[in-house]
Amino acid sequence: MAAVVLERPTVHVALLRLNRPEARNALSPELREELREHFLALAQDRDCRAIVLTGDRRAFAAGADIKAMVATGPAEMMARGDEANWAAIRDCPKPIIAAVNGYALGGGCELAMSADIIVAGQGATFGQPEVRLGIMPGAGGTQRLTRAIGKHRAMLMLLTGASLSATEALAAGLVSKVVDDESTVEEALALASRIAAMPPIAVAEIKRVVLAGMDVPLDTAIMLERRAAYLLFGTEDKREAMTAFIEKRSPVFSGT
Ligand code: CAA
Repeated sequence: MAAVVLERPTVHVALLRLNRPEARNALSPELREELREHFLALAQDRDCRAIVLTGDRRAFAAGADIKAMVATGPAEMMARGDEANWAAIRDCPKPIIAAVNGYALGGGCELAMSADIIVAGQGATFGQPEVRLGIMPGAGGTQRLTRAIGKHRAMLMLLTGASLSATEALAAGLVSKVVDDESTVEEALALASRIAAMPPIAVAEIKRVVLAGMDVPLDTAIMLERRAAYLLFGTEDKREAMTAFIEKRSPVFSGT
């Protein structure tokens, strides 16, 4: 059975479900490869305008598969080439919304943080417990968590393995919104549909500039922003959106 299931609730929205419920959706090497294949394909799919990534009610993902790591040394870890799996998600130009119920721990928390928007169910738990296993986050956890919630809260979590509830994660700035557990995927799909209804080139440029701008000096980031903003003035969708506003009608976007 597939470790990642792809559904297509609408033509423009893809839903990826992690499917290892018996292992709390632990990220086995096979699951990571399937995720990479899906993200590479969806990145090229011109119909796909937003991606929702979810697990099940008990777990978004409980981290890397400990059973697949217990006897593994550094050379084998490196040879697995896991970086390419994460790069496929990191480099995906389509907006990604994580719909998190239950545990998002270790690599599962890193996976959620790879998304652009995180919708958490009330019962969700976020943590980087790697230190308890004698290791540390290896897929961006030390860096993304620190950028999201600041050094002192991140250090508390990373050095003790302490986790955050959904409401604590919202207050800390780790998640975008908290909803009832039963509404998590529905809310994420609704957001995905709203984004999918926007002009796709504008959406892509906003995502690109936000992510690229986080890692460069502010002046450079502002320059990236200005250039991308000017670029959008050349699109057909900008002409259509502004004309529709003036003519008091709904715009019809072509994605050009
Ligand atoms: N890897 C492998 N198997 C896992 C797993 C994991 N990360 N998390 C859960 N499982 C398995 C359990 O071994 C168990 O399998 P069996 O039925 O065969 O015994 C099954 O899933 C159910 O787990 P529990 O009985 O423990 O379920 P629970 O609901 O009582 O607890 C939990 C859930 C709190 C998530 C607990 O399973 C847990 O603490 N898991 C480990 C979390 C963790 O340490 N994650 C970090 C991994 S390291 C990492 O992610 C670093 C990296 O990227 C390099």
